[in-house]
Amino acid sequence: EEATAKRKDDHLDLCATGDVEPVQNSTLLECVRLVHCAMPEMAVDEVDLSTEFLGKKLRYPLLITGMTGGTERAGAVNRDMALLAERHGLAFGVGSQRAMAENPQLGATFQVRQVAPTIPVLGNIGLYQAVGLGVDGVRRLAEAIGADGMALHLNAGQELTQPEGDRDFRGGYKVVEGLVRVFGARLLVKETGCGIGPEVARRLVELGVRNLDVSGLGGTSWVRVEQLRATGVQAQVGAEFSSWGIPTAAAIATVRRAVGPDARLVASGGLRTGLDVAKVLTLGADVGGMALPLFRAQQQGGLPAAEQALATILTSLKQALVLTGSRNCAELRQKPRIVVGELKDWLAAL
Ligand code: FNR
Repeated sequence: EEATAKRKDDHLDLCATGDVEPVQNSTLLECVRLVHCAMPEMAVDEVDLSTEFLGKKLRYPLLITGMTGGTERAGAVNRDMALLAERHGLAFGVGSQRAMAENPQLGATFQVRQVAPTIPVLGNIGLYQAVGLGVDGVRRLAEAIGADGMALHLNAGQELTQPEGDRDFRGGYKVVEGLVRVFGARLLVKETGCGIGPEVARRLVELGVRNLDVSGLGGTSWVRVEQLRATGVQAQVGAEFSSWGIPTAAAIATVRRAVGPDARLVASGGLRTGLDVAKVLTLGADVGGMALPLFRAQQQGGLPAAEQALATILTSLKQALVLTGSRNCAELRQKPRIVVGELKDWLAAL
């Protein structure tokens, strides 16, 4: 458990200041253009971005995705992010609760209900940690923090770059099946920056998974984070795979096409602006997700800096709706969008 806590703080240091978003990686959201409406015939204040997620109402279609917990510093990040989400009516997820499963005393660093009583809060555990904990162990983790749902994270790329990581990925769907039985529509399956493609998404939905976060390529690369900690073979191979993954724009559009209208889809991985959020909504997402930009702002300037970063994102998102002449998410989805360049190739192939 000492090792888990140490690794967590290493990860936070690297994400706060390290080169964890390789510049050549792209979400391919730059291949999506929205069409300007010269006569919006509406007021900014009329924009209504509210939506439903995990049985609760959001004021904005935005999830601050799971990052951390398990150390003092991580606890402060969770509280600031949860407070921000509560203030603005967003959803919030804690990071991997593995540390807390190993040492229940660390549970306090994942507790956010005091600052976030009304918003959807997600617990978090890795697929292969869930094997060890069993479905009851995972249920207890969710209950211990009063979560509305549980995020199960997939991270094969990261594990393979971690010297101490998993090397055997058999039996994953079976674990998901067990968790669906316990959590039902409160389970969310997410990637961590390499993306979920249409084939995996379809299989998960067939097993009863109702919520997916594609978490595609183009933002934080966990292969890169581990590569920066690795030496020898892992460092070399990690460098090679730092750009591995399905770009977020390609993942969300093809997954929506594959699973139909009923699944709730989050698009995360490299979303950095409100316009990015608007674009993923037009590609089929119900909710946009962000981790690194809000984390970095908080690390640099505390809650006020995170508040300002979020204000910029929400202002830009509302502006995108006004300038496309959309009053709400449903109207935005009806608007035409232009898809150019490499994204077109992905959409044709998947
Ligand atoms: C993460 N991410 C993550 N995901 C997860 O399921 N469990 C976790 O414990 C963590 N930890 C974590 C820590 C930090 C500091 C960051 C920045 C990210 C992944 C995160 O939820 C998200 O899927 C990716 O980071 C992609 O989004 P961004 O960062 O590009 O907006």
